[in-house]
Amino acid sequence: MKVLLIGGGGREHALAWKLSQSPLVEKIYCAPGNPGMKGVEPVALSSLEELADFAEANGIGLTMVGPEASLCEGIADVFRARGLRICGPSKEAAQLEGSKSYAKDFMRRHGLPTAKAARFTELQPALDYIEAEGAPIVVKADGLAAGKGVVVAETKEEAAEAVRECLGGKFGSAGASVLIEECLFGEEASIIALCDGKTILPLASSQDHKRALDGDTGPNTGGMGAYSPAPVVTDELWQTINVQILQPFVKGVQEDKLDFRGIIYAGLMITKEGPKVLEFNVRFGDPETQAILMRLESDLAEALVAVADGKLDTIRLQWTPQPAVCVVLTAKGYPGSYPKGDIISGLDEAEKNGAVVFHAGTKRVDGNIVTNGGRVLGVTARGNDIADAVKNAYEAVSHISWNGMTYRKDIAHRALER
Ligand code: AMP
Ligand code: GLY
Repeated sequence: MKVLLIGGGGREHALAWKLSQSPLVEKIYCAPGNPGMKGVEPVALSSLEELADFAEANGIGLTMVGPEASLCEGIADVFRARGLRICGPSKEAAQLEGSKSYAKDFMRRHGLPTAKAARFTELQPALDYIEAEGAPIVVKADGLAAGKGVVVAETKEEAAEAVRECLGGKFGSAGASVLIEECLFGEEASIIALCDGKTILPLASSQDHKRALDGDTGPNTGGMGAYSPAPVVTDELWQTINVQILQPFVKGVQEDKLDFRGIIYAGLMITKEGPKVLEFNVRFGDPETQAILMRLESDLAEALVAVADGKLDTIRLQWTPQPAVCVVLTAKGYPGSYPKGDIISGLDEAEKNGAVVFHAGTKRVDGNIVTNGGRVLGVTARGNDIADAVKNAYEAVSHISWNGMTYRKDIAHRALER
């Protein structure tokens, strides 16, 4: 089978790496791909129709979509209308990520636990609401804002400022409506699951680190590192998550007649009252996927085909008990502005002891690999326990360098402290 992968970041590199191990996969194309992907043919197309033309012309047996933008644009609808097999939810179902108020309404309608929230398009009622509710309180741009649309405000003034910026156009049309949400407290965990609309099959649990700096401080980022499993998700909590979140999710998808054949990612806060959903994404997490797929022993291609074909009930997944840790290496200045084009050294040495270096923002220039984004690499390793995995990941990191390389030194600290 030939596979077309959409995307070009660390998550897609991890998907390509895992898919290439499948005996079912004879060739992988990736649009656009990245220079770290070995044996993968890059495809320089981006419009949905062109991609579907490519899939048709090249006999692609499975298209797997990484980023939310393509899903929210409706790539799954375009491919399915042409009889092409694709793993990803429909445009309508992708609103579970594309619109936070759509997701909130879905959760309310189907009884999934989540924070209390109200939606506003006008400034004054939003400010009145903040005044009445008090701080801390969370302000979210309703639409897609590349992970930058959420402010956890410590004071009412900070919340008011966030609402002004959002409704004032900081996120363009994505911020034309704003959700103001009760602040939840607890430890976070990510549950990523395969779902074919009838069956939901969770992957190993994971946790990412969204803040830029050690100690989970500093600005929010796309993710500075991740580990799997997340020890906060005990066997007992898995039961609760299944009963209160995963099963109601599938039932909700069916009741709303959504075509959800893809990946559902629930960002959870484990509060004193139990797990609550902070957000849905309709795709694999980045960098959670890098850590999770390092632990998957089963055939990913077989599982993704089953998702696309609505036969997920036939799949069982095997995991190594060994934890995995991914440390993201970033360009200096990220998540603000950062330089590009710095030559990276030590990539081969870093992989000598079994670690895998997933590329995210890199480019090949004159035989060198140079930085080409904020999140540049995801160095991922397993270990006998979480401490060993952390040690192995940072040992691999120690071989890599470029001018201005930065990274967090405390990935998985919550798991280590347990
Ligand atoms: P989201 O994109 O909705 O996941 O939000 C990004 C981050 O903001 C989450 O990972 C949390 O750390 C934080 N966050 C979002 N919603 C809440 C909430 N209701 N209470 C506390 N923190 C939140
Ligand atoms: N790591 C968070 C995300 O992929 O949205």
